[in-house]
Amino acid sequence: MASLTIRKLDEAIKAALRVRAAQHGRSVEDEVRGILREAAAAPVALGPANISSGHNSSGKTEAESQVTLIIGGGIAAYKSLDLIRRLKERGFVVRCVLTNAAQQFVTPLAASALANTRAYTGLFDPASEFDVGHIRLARDCDLIVVAPATADLMAKMAGGHADDLATAILLATDRPVLLAPAMNPLMWSNAATRRNVAQLVRDGVTLVGPDAGEMAEAGESGVGRMAEPVEIAEAVLGMLRPAGPRPLAGRRVLITAGPTHEPIDPVRYIANRSSGKQGFAIAAAARAAGAEVVLVSGPVGLPDPPGVAVKRVESAREMLAAVEAALPADVAIFAAAVADWRVASEGDQKIKKAAGALPRLELVENPDILATVARLADARPPLVIGFAAETEHLIDHARAKLARKRCDWIVANDVSPAGGVMGGDRNTVHVIRKDGDEVRVDSWPAMAKDEVATALVARIAEAVHARQGT
Ligand code: CTP
Repeated sequence: MASLTIRKLDEAIKAALRVRAAQHGRSVEDEVRGILREAAAAPVALGPANISSGHNSSGKTEAESQVTLIIGGGIAAYKSLDLIRRLKERGFVVRCVLTNAAQQFVTPLAASALANTRAYTGLFDPASEFDVGHIRLARDCDLIVVAPATADLMAKMAGGHADDLATAILLATDRPVLLAPAMNPLMWSNAATRRNVAQLVRDGVTLVGPDAGEMAEAGESGVGRMAEPVEIAEAVLGMLRPAGPRPLAGRRVLITAGPTHEPIDPVRYIANRSSGKQGFAIAAAARAAGAEVVLVSGPVGLPDPPGVAVKRVESAREMLAAVEAALPADVAIFAAAVADWRVASEGDQKIKKAAGALPRLELVENPDILATVARLADARPPLVIGFAAETEHLIDHARAKLARKRCDWIVANDVSPAGGVMGGDRNTVHVIRKDGDEVRVDSWPAMAKDEVATALVARIAEAVHARQGT
């Protein structure tokens, strides 16, 4: 280990060290120790097993990539501490900035201990200005993440305010910005927030979440929960990873997702438990593979995947119309849990209870969207993939569906309540494919729905290229 004598350093460096030490109220020796500790901390803290050898768009390895994490003032700030860990696991150097409000929920000390770098708080903090300064925090990084992005912080960003360190960084940056909004559902759906979010998206920021679910406030639920730290870290990786292979570039992929709602009268409907997560994950994976993606979704609480054209519908008939309007496509994937039946005549008024008489609902069958598209003469996509949601005899029923619906592949999954697939984050699927006169069954292990999506899209890309001999 080399020794270092401060006396032998250049006069200019010694002078700078003296100023810096005075600003921190430390001796020059302690200041130098601090600088060395901070410089050594980032690579040492990453650990060799976690350092990816990938290069990002700026040509650096991920281990060298810097993320400025702005922590806003919301209860979800506690999850940002976990996000720091998730980012570091993926090899990023993280520098944290806490707004005043954020410090009501988490401390700079906690953020800096987890990040292993100093946490910054004030625009007029002489130490921050001397060490890094808001301009350097804004630019000496590869990406800025705002998590939680509160309604107030987004309003300030949309308006171009710069009255604290966080907003000054966001106004001064030329780096990509990823926002993870978190707020009460009523604040998220408020017209002012809608306007601000729309403006920020037009300005080029990327959003991850918010998700639907329970809020911290007792009894409140809806869209507004901050995306999970792993999801945010993956979004960061996606934004900083070099453009990988884009095997579906130039292809158009059409996907259906979610349930359908079939009206009984103006206030009631027939529905099912589909969350849309698997279909949305496939849309995101197809987009990541370079495809132009159209996603036709029934009513779900999921945000639009970035870069995907999303058409939201309610009923099976609306879904069919949107699918037909979206053709032609190279690949069509029918992941929606379409309601099989609707009531024959939807009431114009709310059906009232009548003493001693139960209403009779006469059902009629909905159009089968998958079978309709698979039977098209001219506009049939070259690869048509259905899903089979079964609770028993999974493979047999799925094979029968493959034949009956005349699709090319069926992705079969067991949706028995015990498996937790409907609404859950994991799925165990079997891919059943026509291969000439044979039918092949590939059974995949249990995976997260986005892993199923990535694997399925990889298979699709292989098939598309195999058909064309490319
Ligand atoms: N599907 C569709 N339109 C319908 C019903 C189903 O496009 N009206 C599609 C689904 O998106 C899925 C496949 O058909 O890709 C199979 O759906 P599933 O619900 O498993 O089967 P059903 O055809 O509804 O048959 P059953 O309910 O008898 O299992």
